[in-house]
Amino acid sequence: MFRLSAPEALVASGFLKHLLPRFSLKTGVKIEIVPEATDADARFSSSSDGVPVFSGLDSEWVLVISRENEHVIRFRDWITGEVGRKTIDAFRADGKAVFTAAVAKPKDQGPQLIAGDVVSGEKLAVLHCGRCHMVNETTRLTTIGSTPSFAIMRNFSDWRVRFEAFFSLNPHPSFTQVEGVTEPFDVSRPPSIVPLELTLDELDAILAFVSQIQPADLGAPIQYD
Ligand code: HEC
Repeated sequence: MFRLSAPEALVASGFLKHLLPRFSLKTGVKIEIVPEATDADARFSSSSDGVPVFSGLDSEWVLVISRENEHVIRFRDWITGEVGRKTIDAFRADGKAVFTAAVAKPKDQGPQLIAGDVVSGEKLAVLHCGRCHMVNETTRLTTIGSTPSFAIMRNFSDWRVRFEAFFSLNPHPSFTQVEGVTEPFDVSRPPSIVPLELTLDELDAILAFVSQIQPADLGAPIQYD
């Protein structure tokens, strides 16, 4: 349960009686509507900064969250998500649509550049990762062919998460140490290959370098020289 305040005009439109029960039915989270200016966990407002949710009654409405808790966040995600948006658009008063879901923010399709020292990042990547991965052209021939190249991995939609945590993803933990992050190697079982030792700053530089790698175009036919 959480408390949501809304101006009288919005309550009087009947819209909330259409909207909120559909959310509650889906999630089991009840919403108590309280009058404007009453203490509440969140409010609909047409005169504040908040998450844009819908337009209608000559206003742009936002959801202002005053107490973040799991129920309010769930409501925010629902009302800005596909189902919530459809529910908004489906409301009719006297057979007419009254509210329109706020325009969804276009998904960020642009390059996800990470600020940092790209030049030293590339050097570090060649030095530490280039033993196995093809990092750039200079490491094409020295790397292990079956290991995915950085350009291939740059295609993963979650490439950033994977690179940030590479040291915890196989096969790296057995030979990788990040200063202050990973446990020291077990002295009784030293790595069987040359260890990879890195600081977080160095990893940040590598991330900056990786962020500007052109993802390999997997759709294109393979080129033979
Ligand atoms: C000794 C060889 C070796 C070195 C050195 C190495 N990697 Fe890897 N890495 C691999 C192999 C092999 C895989 C593929 C594992 C698989 O497909 O299951 C891999 C996979 C990855 C993945 C994808 C992991 C996943 O599960 O999604 C990332 C990201 C990665 N490496 C980053 C790096 C970075 C960054 C460095 C250098 C700082 C590095 N690797 C150094 C061998 C290596």
